[in-house]
Amino acid sequence: MGSLEYATPPLVALNGRARGYWRGVVQTLAGVAALALLTFVCDRLGLNLATALCLFLTLIILLSLWGSFVASAVVSLVAVASLDYYFTPPTFTFQISDPFDGIAVVLFLTTSGVITALVSRARSRTDQLVLEANLRAEEALRQAQAELAHANRVMLVGEMTASIAHEINQPLTGVVSNAGTALRYLAAQTPNLEEARLYLGLIARDGKRAAEVIRRIRALVKKMPPRSDLLDLNEAIREVIALTQNELQRGSVKLETRLSSELPLVPADRVQLQQVILNLIVNAVEAMSDVGGRPRELAVSSGSESNDVFVEVRDSGPGVDPANLDRLFQSFFTTKPEGMGMGLSICRSIIEAHGGRLSATPNEPHGVVFRFTLPTVVDDGADHAG
Ligand SMILES: Nc1ncnc2c1ncn2[C@@H]1O[C@H](COP(=O)(O)OP(=O)(O)O)[C@@H](O)[C@H]1O
Ligand SMILES: [Mg+2]
Repeated sequence: MGSLEYATPPLVALNGRARGYWRGVVQTLAGVAALALLTFVCDRLGLNLATALCLFLTLIILLSLWGSFVASAVVSLVAVASLDYYFTPPTFTFQISDPFDGIAVVLFLTTSGVITALVSRARSRTDQLVLEANLRAEEALRQAQAELAHANRVMLVGEMTASIAHEINQPLTGVVSNAGTALRYLAAQTPNLEEARLYLGLIARDGKRAAEVIRRIRALVKKMPPRSDLLDLNEAIREVIALTQNELQRGSVKLETRLSSELPLVPADRVQLQQVILNLIVNAVEAMSDVGGRPRELAVSSGSESNDVFVEVRDSGPGVDPANLDRLFQSFFTTKPEGMGMGLSICRSIIEAHGGRLSATPNEPHGVVFRFTLPTVVDDGADHAG
């Protein structure tokens, strides 16, 4: 089920810290440059201390909204020095003759310090909230993936039953024929116990083989009954698309969704249907992975007609050899070196268990369209046992 496993993007904490450091340096330099420019302009215009002070304070506020705490703090200190040097008499010295000027400068430093600290605290709280929200979303994503992977395993069981029955049949045939032989040896006039024991040994071996096959099946089956809630297919599609964002990006696939706004609800198992949609999308992305020289386009659309709703997944990949179009849905049919060939047969079983149909037709000019329909009204004869 390799196609169902998605890599979570690795945390880039180290990288992020280095980037944060350099961003701080750039912000500080930009702040100091803006301050120098402001000082020059104020000086040229001959503005007094009060006006320069207000302008500087505005600059600090803007900087603290945009930049880091350290950048604002450094620029505040430089601003005090600049105010002292250029705008408090005697100018061009760091001395202050009028005590009121001194108070103004101290007030400036206090105000800018308080503003910077407040804004910085508000921003770090916001960052923390965003981080928490991201973590929660990631957790929900992981859970959805686990659910889908589980459903995949469950459906796999149904599909594999046929081939497993074949596996069990072989040892059972052996058991029956060896038992016949052993009986013949025992029924002879002088029973041949040696030969009979040999064949009983073979029976025991075949019995163990059959038991082993059954044990493997039971390990696979921990099946939950399919649910039949009223499902908003568009919502289900959107959730799956959110899950596949990574794959789409990595495969450079352009996605277009056209979901009908008047889609009736359908009685269906959300997880199973999402698995179908996911499989179709993953197949399309995989099919387009070798496409070059034309855009890789995936279109997912939904709509309704009479008593059915339909979903289409259309790609611009290499398409399918018309001779193979029907074989796609057979178990174990695959053209991929790593493929299992179970995806589409599982999809078809799910759709048919819901009373619908899944088919593939060639797309124009390239690719395939997979389309499934689902009845909006359950007729009582329909089999929903799955
Ligand atoms: N969108 C598609 N475009 C072209 N071929 C496809 C597409 N989807 C499925 N196929 C073909 O159908 C085969 C079976 O698909 P599937 O049952 O999902 O098994 P797997 O993906 O493991 O091969 C694939 O190997 C591929 O050859
Ligand atoms: Mg597949």
